[in-house]
Amino acid sequence: MGRVIAVANQKGGVGKTTTAINLAASFAAAEVNTLLVDCDPQSNATSGLGFVKDPERVSSYHLLMGAASAEEALLTTELDQLWLIPAHKNLIGANLELVDADAREFRLREAIAPLRERFQFIVLDCPPALDLLTLNALVAADAVLIPMQGEYFALEGVSELLDTIERIRAILNPELGIEGVVLTMFDERTNLSQQVKSELKNYFGEKLCSTTVPRNIRLAEAPSHGKPALMYDPRSKGAESYIKLAKEIIERQVSGVAQAPFEVAEHVGQEDAQAAEQLPVEAVPTEEHRAEGAVEELPVSSEMDKSA
Ligand SMILES: Nc1ncnc2c1ncn2[C@@H]1O[C@H](COP(=O)(O)OP(=O)(O)O)[C@@H](O)[C@H]1O
Ligand SMILES: [Mg+2]
Repeated sequence: MGRVIAVANQKGGVGKTTTAINLAASFAAAEVNTLLVDCDPQSNATSGLGFVKDPERVSSYHLLMGAASAEEALLTTELDQLWLIPAHKNLIGANLELVDADAREFRLREAIAPLRERFQFIVLDCPPALDLLTLNALVAADAVLIPMQGEYFALEGVSELLDTIERIRAILNPELGIEGVVLTMFDERTNLSQQVKSELKNYFGEKLCSTTVPRNIRLAEAPSHGKPALMYDPRSKGAESYIKLAKEIIERQVSGVAQAPFEVAEHVGQEDAQAAEQLPVEAVPTEEHRAEGAVEELPVSSEMDKSA
């Protein structure tokens, strides 16, 4: 039975699509049949694998609307063991079109069920919102992989995601686990990054992946060439880090870490939400702050101090 991993975080630009594409490609390169499902109307995972816009193509929209089977939507890719179910921008309409539909949260789960035998991994790339599309992905998934940018305010908003996961577990998908939290665009060299990492380690424990993904230009360039990084520049740090992450995730399954419970309820408290909201405004990096060197001088909040 394949494992379905939703790559989710309602924040935009944290590396969900980059992670979904490159993790799926790395699984495929490890010779396991892998399916990437683009669940985002922005269709970045689709274009990132080299598929141009085509309104006629069967997509995840048709799956959600019950207009086509997952089998009919499968596309082969340049990698032998990687398949794609593409998205199209009309997917944004599914949010509205499904409002009154029966079992509207179960559409994706039911659509991909027949493919679970065939793929060892099914990776779902979610949109940057906790909308019906993400809900469908979280109901379809065995576990969530949460990419987070290695920044000072990384935890901001995470309690909302954990709260959503908890509610989905309670009502719609009791089996939903947390596959892991992965730090993206991570700069090992700054004190700030190390502080963020140790803060996240305190919070997520073994759920924090030991593999981190560095900021790497090849990862940003590869999608415009329609390729995963491991085909665009296999020796880049970016490609290597996702290969390592894929190995770690495979190993975590074998060792049981992936299945270990993470008691979301314990972690979701007013405190977290308030801590995020109370971030001093000047502490949020502006473009100027992001400039080389400036980032290290950012004030660190008292929340961070306690555990760093
Ligand atoms: N590790 C990385 N190094 C460099 N650029 C990255 C990295 N991860 C993501 N990016 C770039 O950051 C932007 C946002 O990433 P993306 O994966 O699209 O995020 P999301 O899907 O969460 O919105 C994209 O332009 C992407 O190419
Ligand atoms: Mg994306």
